[in-house]
Amino acid sequence: MTDTTDTTGTEGGELRRLLRGIEVFAGELPSFDPLDTPGTPVELFTQWLRGALRAGVREPHAMTLATADGAGDPAARVLILKDVDEQGWQFASDGGGPKGRQLAARPFAALTFYWAPLARQVRVRGPVVRAAEQVRAADFLARGAGARAESLLGRQSRPLADLAERDAAVAASLARLAEQPELVSPDWTVYAVQPETVEFWQGDRQRRHTRLVYRATGDGWAKQLLWP
Ligand SMILES: Cc1cc2nc3c(=O)[nH]c(=O)nc-3n(C[C@H](O)[C@H](O)[C@H](O)COP(=O)(O)O)c2cc1C
Repeated sequence: MTDTTDTTGTEGGELRRLLRGIEVFAGELPSFDPLDTPGTPVELFTQWLRGALRAGVREPHAMTLATADGAGDPAARVLILKDVDEQGWQFASDGGGPKGRQLAARPFAALTFYWAPLARQVRVRGPVVRAAEQVRAADFLARGAGARAESLLGRQSRPLADLAERDAAVAASLARLAEQPELVSPDWTVYAVQPETVEFWQGDRQRRHTRLVYRATGDGWAKQLLWP
């Protein structure tokens, strides 16, 4: 796009006009009554996830994972949600990469889901634990051959010289897996965010947004409305 590039925030920037012209919360939105909600955030999350699937949201199980390193510097990236149970909100990754190192230094994270057609956001915060050996092995073995071959290389987020280097390494890894299909990457890790707070945000075209946060009390959950 050609842009008269106005990074100073003054009127006239083409990109700025483009951004201002984008409609927010278009179309029919669901209602949300925070007084008529289940006792646990897992139940409400499950209802909302099913609603997102029914509404045709693509990859509604994709979420932004925010972590911090030992110095407190943040990083965020999108991951796939693997499960939600009493362990918490679970995801899997190469534990030897940047996010794995960050979680080792500071085992605390935030997750954010955004389901645009429904104007719904869910935010989860809490300490992060690593799942047991048999859980991570089962998760790894349930992945497709291509995904396992790539993970087995243990190179996620490292510099790559060119795409041919990737293809050759993955092909060699696939051949290795064909010989030893039971191989499990030593770095593959299943993590669980154990929620301290889970916030549900329902957008509204008239800006009557509704926010409900569940806070863990030790023996259950307390619910609280928040100002939007
Ligand atoms: C929709 C989507 C789903 C993704 N799912 C995963 C995942 O489940 N696990 C994973 O390690 N990376 C996943 N990624 C890639 C991550 O966003 C990220 O690039 C990678 O994990 C490296 O992150 P890091 O350098 O912060 O460790 C996904 C990316 C997208 C866009």
